[in-house]
Amino acid sequence: MKRSSQHLIITGKKKLHGEVDINGAKNAALAIISASVLTNDVCVIENLPSIDDVTSLFKTLTKLGAKCDFKDNHTLVIDSRPINSYTAVCENVKKIRASYYLVGAFLGRFGRAEVMMPGGCDLGTRPIDYHVKGFEALGARVNIENGIIKASAEELEGAHIYLDFASVGATINIMLAAIFAKGVTTIENAAKEPHVVDCANFLNKFGAKIKGAGTNVIKITGVKELSGGEYTLIPDQIEAGTYMIAAAATQGDVTVKNIIPKHMDSVSAKLAEMNCEIIEGDDYIRIIGPEHLLSANVKSMVYPGFPTDLQPQMAALLCYAQGTSIITETVFENRFQYINELRRLGCSITVEGRVAVINGLKQLTGAEVAATDIRAGVALIIAALNANGQTIIGNVKYIDRGYENIEAKLKSLGADIERVRR
Ligand code: EPZ
Repeated sequence: MKRSSQHLIITGKKKLHGEVDINGAKNAALAIISASVLTNDVCVIENLPSIDDVTSLFKTLTKLGAKCDFKDNHTLVIDSRPINSYTAVCENVKKIRASYYLVGAFLGRFGRAEVMMPGGCDLGTRPIDYHVKGFEALGARVNIENGIIKASAEELEGAHIYLDFASVGATINIMLAAIFAKGVTTIENAAKEPHVVDCANFLNKFGAKIKGAGTNVIKITGVKELSGGEYTLIPDQIEAGTYMIAAAATQGDVTVKNIIPKHMDSVSAKLAEMNCEIIEGDDYIRIIGPEHLLSANVKSMVYPGFPTDLQPQMAALLCYAQGTSIITETVFENRFQYINELRRLGCSITVEGRVAVINGLKQLTGAEVAATDIRAGVALIIAALNANGQTIIGNVKYIDRGYENIEAKLKSLGADIERVRR
């Protein structure tokens, strides 16, 4: 079934209950598959989420000569040694944002890179100037012509780089380019997200010398080469948070399993503030949604603050809270495009720049809506799960970029949800 014509049909007012297994982290997977280009052996990447963004990157690398096989749905065996080109300009490159990691990886491996400007969710301009500044500090010449990022360097030399913003992409991309650079590279104001740490752990396991990942200063000492081997991805904190918020929206009782509770701290704290009951185990969190959700203010921040990738989902939840809530988006300049779609369900939200004011209502009613990006799509699902009547959600292809088997997982939790072709 062509993805673009698929819809999800949800009949609301079903409380979610039971257990849901969380997959590996999408944004760790995309960084680590790209990082495998730097290794000089076969890599076996486990706990890989079976999602379209991973497929897009897999197809790009296969087209460039990498030997890739899925041992099973969640395990990729990749040998990047046969890659015979540093030019990535195929259709799949444009589909995802993470294609930009190929610039750092190819620069590190070949000293050259020609990669089509990345695609991905429309959250504003999403420039790559911090990435370019980092590559230039390492000694590369970079220019963008005809929508292609062209980078080259006779030799990459360690540098001291200060990021204007703790950018996840720029932190990881500079790390990739610096792996074999001469001397030491320091990234100040580095991003601290769990997937930055996971990517550094992957590289260190195979011989890289990266210190400080998870703090705002990362030091990379250049090495000669990397080996390869097995690596298991961390769980997806955003998928986990999405199901926690869905449970809260339906007065449900759900246990999200195979997670790292520490990664969820800001989300658990906010849901507890809204009167949810949170029970934490070693690798799970049980969340019980209250009869009466309290309003709350949410400010999206870089890690360990509240994740911007859970901001749309939280907006949907706050529509069911008593009273007025305020959401401030500090990471992206335009991440409220989904609100027009929420309004079709009856949400009362006003937006002024990076601030959304939500007047919680007890009841929303089903309608025909469409996803505008990955997280906007699941925000619509969350609102629909507790709305009166039926909601039809279009552009499911966005949701499939970042969530594995979402309707099967929700159905197993008691949701009335079907995927149809219309
Ligand atoms: C990554 O995007 C994630 N994508 C995003 O997840 C996530 O929202 C974001 O990090 C923040 O956590 C992947 O990992 C593939 P940034 P990225 O660089 O790297 C500005 C999802 O739903 N900026 O941290 O693009 C930028 O415009 C997606 O999984 C520059 O100005 O995020 C934004 O306002 C959505 N210049 C801010 O910094 C640059 O050179 C943060 O962006 C780079 C970024």
